[in-house]
Amino acid sequence: MSHNIYFDNNATTPLDSRVFEAMKPYFDICYGNPASQLHQKGWEAKEAVEMARKKVAQLIHAKPEEITFTAGSTESNNWALKGLIESLKEKNPLEPLHILTSNIEHASVKEPLLYMKKKGLIDIDFLPVDSQGFLSLETLKKNCRSSTKVISLIWVHNEIGTIQNLKEIAAWAQENHIYLHTDATQAVGKIEVNMDENPISLLSFSGHKLYGPKGIGALYTRSLNPKITLHPLLHGGGQEISGRSGTLNVPSIVGLGKACEIAQLEMKNDWIKTSQLMTDLWNNLKSEFPQIKLNGPKVGTRTVYNLNLTLPGIQGSDILPHLQNLCVSGGSACSSGNLQGNPVLLAIGHNPNDTSVSLRISSGRMTTNEDFQKAFNEISKALKSLRFNEKEEVHRVL
Ligand SMILES: Cc1ncc(COP(=O)(O)O)c(C=O)c1O
Repeated sequence: MSHNIYFDNNATTPLDSRVFEAMKPYFDICYGNPASQLHQKGWEAKEAVEMARKKVAQLIHAKPEEITFTAGSTESNNWALKGLIESLKEKNPLEPLHILTSNIEHASVKEPLLYMKKKGLIDIDFLPVDSQGFLSLETLKKNCRSSTKVISLIWVHNEIGTIQNLKEIAAWAQENHIYLHTDATQAVGKIEVNMDENPISLLSFSGHKLYGPKGIGALYTRSLNPKITLHPLLHGGGQEISGRSGTLNVPSIVGLGKACEIAQLEMKNDWIKTSQLMTDLWNNLKSEFPQIKLNGPKVGTRTVYNLNLTLPGIQGSDILPHLQNLCVSGGSACSSGNLQGNPVLLAIGHNPNDTSVSLRISSGRMTTNEDFQKAFNEISKALKSLRFNEKEEVHRVL
């Protein structure tokens, strides 16, 4: 099997074997339904769910009752935004609702917002970010209206690695009685996320981005100062404090809890180890191919798990066949011939006619020194075979 050097951890991380071991008994031995509270099997399952909830809460310095299990970030983002807006509309049906967000959000934030706008429930401003992907507090202040009730901002960017200054934004939002939701999919288990210190109202994340299973995630909903009320996502048997009915996915919940427990212990070391390796990879590539452009903040001020590189004048269709042993993501400001390119690259100022490929290289806990060395060799070999080091800095513009 080719594609064996895995550098697509922002898409999904491998399951940690310790997580897998923790999950196993909940498939075939402890298979009870946590809602069955008249027998041992149900009690065991409920205990496992509540233990996992505690571990998730501990990782982000929250209270267990502030954690609801979902199917992942897409669901958490949808529920946070639709649930909050429906709840605000129920309280004050005639009051206008204005939402501020950035123009680099993941589709699972952008699309539910556009859906609610289409339904006439809200007005939205998708605010511009700077060339490194930062949304400034000044831009938020300038666009804030008396009807602005919610901000939604991605914490760590999945494509360009920008870590927003959420502490400052959360403090300002709280002072101005604006609810702040953050898509923290690439933040939780990677950087310090502390809900005690940051007055964030709602926070979403997915298990499979922190070495847990797919199809499980969580939504944090603040319980105090102020308490956030969400309209239920699913109506039915009343699970998850009547917010999300349906039998709980016990093995995956246990897996998410274990993944959070491991992250709490290992996150700092993972970061330090990766920081050195990613910096070396970038320095080596840049010294061999000075034309390479780094998208997003400078190395040292971005998440260490990601590099996003534009290769001026190289098309995706040229380079991807040379990278068969390397699993990375690709994109360009303009996707060959069709002017609807990557909205994130466009938002940070790429030329909308430029078809040059951008590679997203994302590593993780399981990425070894040898993997980094192989990744460098593969990219270097591919670029040399395309004579990239001999090219002038001319972008192919359609
Ligand atoms: C920043 C961000 N938000 C949301 C999602 C959606 O996560 P999921 O597919 O687990 O629902 C992703 C996944 O790629 C992501 O990177």
